[in-house]
Amino acid sequence: DTLGSSMDMAMELGVKGAPSGTLVLAESQNQGRGRLGRVWFSPKYKGLYLSLILRPDMLPTQAPMLTLLSAVSICEAIKAITGIDAQIKWPNDILVHNKKLAGILTQVVAETDKINFVIIGIGINVNNDRKALLSTATSLKEQRREDINRVSLLQEVLRRLETNYLVLEKKGSSQILEKWRLYNITLGKMVKIYCQGKHIEGEAVNIDIDGGLLIRKDTGITDKVMAGDVVHCR
Ligand code: BTN
Repeated sequence: DTLGSSMDMAMELGVKGAPSGTLVLAESQNQGRGRLGRVWFSPKYKGLYLSLILRPDMLPTQAPMLTLLSAVSICEAIKAITGIDAQIKWPNDILVHNKKLAGILTQVVAETDKINFVIIGIGINVNNDRKALLSTATSLKEQRREDINRVSLLQEVLRRLETNYLVLEKKGSSQILEKWRLYNITLGKMVKIYCQGKHIEGEAVNIDIDGGLLIRKDTGITDKVMAGDVVHCR
């Protein structure tokens, strides 16, 4: 309970050399972290809060694929355990009926041309009650109107992560991206992205082989974005 965030603990373990596959699981977090300095609300026994250490043999520029792979794995697991069709908003939001159900925070510790290790932090709203959620968020319990077994869901998420990770290692990103396309709701939409101090606006036309989002602007020029905050316009 004194734990701040499973990410912080995983970071400590990673620095100390913990092997690939090391998992830190929290029952609650009082410093749950989201992307862009946001807070991830992590009430006790309600959600899944996990941080996985991986030591992939890939370039730092390929790391965004791990976020996409995680998003796919979460959607597959949610479908298998609850029957719910969750969707992915690029790069890392898992939504149901446009409300946030789960999020992924990927932290990369790397040198210029080599990943040392990666921490994939995953938070899923499982048995959170409606009244304890923001209006923009939802939980599996709210959707299904019953409690969901967190252990079964955790097991399924880990199984899918493992399978997809092995596919990525052996076959590269194309199969993962194929699956990602099935779940994504960003491609084809007009989007606004705030990224490294500038706004990019245009149509999200495709996903690149490294997981970057291709945005076709009004000028006809296509920009590639590797990370950022996306607003779907229409
Ligand atoms: C986001 O959508 O902003 C990402 C949320 C990530 C939350 C998870 S919960 C487990 C891990 N520990 C943290 O402090 N954050 C991630």
